[in-house]
Amino acid sequence: MSTIESVLHETRIFAPSTKFVEQANLADIEAYRALCAEAERDYPAFWSKLAQQHILWHKPFTRVLNDSEPPFFKWFEDGELNISYNCLDRHLANQPDKIAIIFEADNGDVNHCTYRELYQRVCQFANGLKALDIKKGDRIIIYMPMRIEAVIAMQACARIGAIHSVVFGGFSAKSLHERIVDAGAAAVITADEQTRGGKNHPLKATVDEALSMGDTDSVKSVVIYKHTGVDIAWQNNRDIWWHDLIHGKQGECAPEWVNAEHPLFTLYTSGSTGKPKGVQHSSAGYLLGTMISMQWVFDYKPTDIFWCTADVGWITGHSYVAYGPLAMGATQVIFEGIPTYPDAGRFWKIIQQHKVTTFYTAPTAIRSLIKLGADLPQQYDLSSLRLLGSVGEPINPEAWMWYYTVVGQSRCPIVDTWWQTETGCHMIAPIPGAIPLKPGSCTLPLPGISAAVVDEAGHDVELGKGGFLVIKRPFPSQIRTLWKDPARFKKTYFPEDICGGRYYLAGDSAHRDKEGYFWIMGRIDDVLNVSGHRLGTMEIESALVANPLVAEAAVVGKPHEIKGEAVVAFVVLKGQRPHGAQASEIAGTLREWVAREIGPIARPEEIRFGDNLPKTRSGKIMRRLLRSLAKGEEITQDTSTLENPAILEQLKQPVS
Ligand code: PRX
Repeated sequence: MSTIESVLHETRIFAPSTKFVEQANLADIEAYRALCAEAERDYPAFWSKLAQQHILWHKPFTRVLNDSEPPFFKWFEDGELNISYNCLDRHLANQPDKIAIIFEADNGDVNHCTYRELYQRVCQFANGLKALDIKKGDRIIIYMPMRIEAVIAMQACARIGAIHSVVFGGFSAKSLHERIVDAGAAAVITADEQTRGGKNHPLKATVDEALSMGDTDSVKSVVIYKHTGVDIAWQNNRDIWWHDLIHGKQGECAPEWVNAEHPLFTLYTSGSTGKPKGVQHSSAGYLLGTMISMQWVFDYKPTDIFWCTADVGWITGHSYVAYGPLAMGATQVIFEGIPTYPDAGRFWKIIQQHKVTTFYTAPTAIRSLIKLGADLPQQYDLSSLRLLGSVGEPINPEAWMWYYTVVGQSRCPIVDTWWQTETGCHMIAPIPGAIPLKPGSCTLPLPGISAAVVDEAGHDVELGKGGFLVIKRPFPSQIRTLWKDPARFKKTYFPEDICGGRYYLAGDSAHRDKEGYFWIMGRIDDVLNVSGHRLGTMEIESALVANPLVAEAAVVGKPHEIKGEAVVAFVVLKGQRPHGAQASEIAGTLREWVAREIGPIARPEEIRFGDNLPKTRSGKIMRRLLRSLAKGEEITQDTSTLENPAILEQLKQPVS
């Protein structure tokens, strides 16, 4: 990939300015090294101290790490707490009137919500959930627009000990159904519609469709937030309006104290098989991870206006919208819309208007905004910014430099944060006052995070050489298991054949340069990263073969200027290979089919038809060949084992 090639030659270094260093929480590399050394000296003591400093415990823990049954680690296991108490109640005494959320709607309307108001709204809604007989441990699906209510729903679940599972509003009825069934959800919280970029999209109708697909008897209630007021279908004894549910409910609700290891949420993500994985997170360890990374990586200050642009449907929106900023008592912006509506200046206008200090977004957004208006940021006053962040995919040095010079006016460090749904919080990321930056590198692991690049046997590879990215020691915010599937959890993240199952295998390859900086090179499994979203190739293939026209399909990624990676599908139809207008028509139908089956983010960029797929004589699809074909590269691989070399010609051209 061009990104990887260019980052390999990147030599520029950017040290933080004196002004930034003077105010930084961690102000030099020695302070960073001292923390790393502290973790090295006494690992449990290091985490124990942080957990005591940052978390309000109902019952203090006495045990730090239980590693007696690897890889099922437990942290602070005899402690008790409540996450919502840690995010809301703790601020009532000293800053009840501080703005917690500045909400900007798609149409530009702005609302402010103080910590006291948020507390009351969460409590009211939690009382509503209790009235629906929802209890500790019940699973609740949240399928909501990116509005304050989404955060209220999550916090209310946490308040009563219910386990939420947020499904991104762009996912289809089928994807939603799969998650509802796997979770055995007791309720679904949704809205009539969501609004993005001036358009309304149905949510409740999608929930109705998902609930009609069978095996959903566990769902007793559907709570609907009225957003656009569109007419919706109604099922008595199941459906209830959000406003009716909270009507007359108290603005106080005693928190349910839960064990440190109680699951706060599951979040489904893509893996190498067709079935999404329900990543299960703990309560205390997860919260601690979000808080220390706010402190270290975002250099959090009480005066900050923090803005993470991620939707709460993704892990970034969990850790850096719904939990981390609230636990720290921050003021944050929540934005319902998209970066390009009504024009490509929207992000810059929001930063100017709300005086955002810390801005965290994805490279794909940055690249698309460069394309649509590289000079636009200069038309806005961005002087409030002091720190920029990037997440979800490698940021190419060109985009990094634009972000740094044009958006940050060469004043703001950029924290390129490497982490995953499974790690809960940043793992490898610069501590901006302490660590000089190199465009395209996520720099160094956070203190206590034993990230390494190793070979199959688990030995550290030489600097400069690529290998598996692993984390050697358990850490508090890590995935606890896959929902109802501990065997898959073990096999996926601690596989016997790589490092003997001793280390957490991230699924990425990486290398380190001579200063030890990490450079992420890409996934080692069949997972694509399209616009920072994880998509399993198998998921898309299963969706394609579910279409009655399709006999066989193979999906690969190819580099894309804006999205990072784009989906290319090679398809064999049951009938004749189509040509010309017919091919275009079927390709269009299949692209929409995938968008409907999974969600628009999975819509293939290209479809190519062949009489067959390139296979070895034993019938295995040669994916590496397909990847070369997708990129338009000359085929240099040995094709002698290929059963049907002629079809390579057919698969060279995308359908126009
Ligand atoms: O491949 C890595 C890439 O995104 C994957 C994790 O995706 P997900 O669980 O959806 O979480 C995304 C938000 C944390 C990783 O395995 N990735 C994430 N951050 C970066 C990255 N690749 C390069 N640089 C990053 N900063």
